[in-house]
Amino acid sequence: MMRLENVLSPTPAKIIKTEKMTDIERLINLEFLDKNFAKEFIYKPGQFVEVSVMGVGEAPISICAARTNPDILQLCVRKVGRVTNAIHNRKEGDLLWIRGPYGNGFPMETIERSHLLLVGGGLGIAPLRGVLQYALQNREKYGEITVFYGIRCYNMMLFRDEFLHLFREGDKQNVKFYLSYEAPDDKECYELACERSDRCTQGVVTKLFEKTEVSPKNTYAIICGPPIMYKFVVRELIKREFRPEQIYMTLERRMKCGIGKCGHCILGNGTSIKYVCKDGPVFTYLDALNTKGMI
Ligand SMILES: Cc1cc2nc3c(=O)[nH]c(=O)nc-3n(C[C@H](O)[C@H](O)[C@H](O)COP(=O)(O)OP(=O)(O)OC[C@H]3O[C@@H](n4cnc5c(N)ncnc54)[C@H](O)[C@@H]3O)c2cc1C
Ligand code: FES
Repeated sequence: MMRLENVLSPTPAKIIKTEKMTDIERLINLEFLDKNFAKEFIYKPGQFVEVSVMGVGEAPISICAARTNPDILQLCVRKVGRVTNAIHNRKEGDLLWIRGPYGNGFPMETIERSHLLLVGGGLGIAPLRGVLQYALQNREKYGEITVFYGIRCYNMMLFRDEFLHLFREGDKQNVKFYLSYEAPDDKECYELACERSDRCTQGVVTKLFEKTEVSPKNTYAIICGPPIMYKFVVRELIKREFRPEQIYMTLERRMKCGIGKCGHCILGNGTSIKYVCKDGPVFTYLDALNTKGMI
């Protein structure tokens, strides 16, 4: 729930743990100083926050976990520029300033009683982790969960312990976890492919469609990854007769306000205008077909 007084005013949160995940990504664990605010800070998988570093600027970052512990907010941040570099340089005990949660998030109720296919590429797995955690916390509400995770190489695998556990043991929870890696000479990934040749392959993430039969029957697909990935994954899904409304994707666009006021994130034209921050960042492929420039 947002603060009613002034939605644009950020709230301080202390970094309680900052963990290196890869050379360019860190997992930032935050705790709001105001415990009452923390209690009311209810979010859905797929929503994001605006994170500010005082004196540097603000950046939208997806919440990468389901709300397991109400006191802790988890963000996976890739350093690409001013704000994200500054976040990486902050230490435990330092403050960041948070606005949100913003965006529509994934419609977890609408997709209940269905099978889920999560397709994540690179950092795109971060918001999907929230979906996965939520579905596992409410396991009886969802059918089979299949995850396709595409990485460049072993060292770029995010949430490595967690995902390797699912890769090896996920079937016990009816989760089928598949992995693709791009670097042809990656030793660790090659070993994973030898360990489970039915679950791991060298190549881009769409190669995983060759590993298992993906049926559209009572299934929702949820995609997040680099922009180039969407059209190839959608193509595989449409080939398998997924309807456009069975395909959800979460988008990244340049943002400022995060709440539909500044117009920075507008897509489309004519009768179909969408604000990525307010109407999204989660859209269906049907929205994409009706909105110019969405994917
Ligand atoms: C809804 C949403 C969720 C996001 N979730 C995450 C997340 O979970 N983790 C994460 O690390 N990042 C996420 N991002 C991207 C993140 O917001 C940008 O990387 C960040 O704003 C860059 O700010 P900066 O000041 O560090 O970089 P800048 O100094 O502004 O720019 C550095 C470089 O990054 C490019 N860039 C800046 N912003 C974006 C953007 N939004 N999309 C693509 N390229 C950009 C610039 O063109 C430039 O090349 C998300 C963005 C959106 C809109
Ligand atoms: S970021 Fe301002 S309108 Fe979307």
